[in-house]
Amino acid sequence: MKVSFITNNNQVVDFYEETSLLRVSIRYKAGMPFKCGGGMCKTCVCIIEEGMENTNKLTKKELNILSKDEIELSKRLACQTIVSGSVSVSWELKNNNK
Ligand code: FES
Repeated sequence: MKVSFITNNNQVVDFYEETSLLRVSIRYKAGMPFKCGGGMCKTCVCIIEEGMENTNKLTKKELNILSKDEIELSKRLACQTIVSGSVSVSWELKNNNK
C-alpha cells in the first residue's frame, strides 16, 4: 500500500504492514508534526485527502479531540489513524522555525 504525503512535496512511500500514519511518517521522514503520539495533543491533526475507506474508524480519542466540523472535513489524528490500504494525506505547516 502507498501513502502519499502531499504536504511533504508529494512524497510517496510503499509499505506492507498495517500501522499508524504517524509511524509511517516517522519511518520515512515525511515530517508530519507530532508531540504525544497518544491521541492527546492534537499536534498530528491532518486531512485524509483520499483513501479514508482504507483507515480505521475514528477512535474515542479522536472523537473527544476533533470537532464535528473537523471530522466532516476528513481530519484525523495521524497517531490514531491506522492505514490498511493506500491513502493521501495533507496537514497544515506551522511556521514555528521561521
Ligand atoms: S501526536 Fe499528540 S494527538 Fe497525535
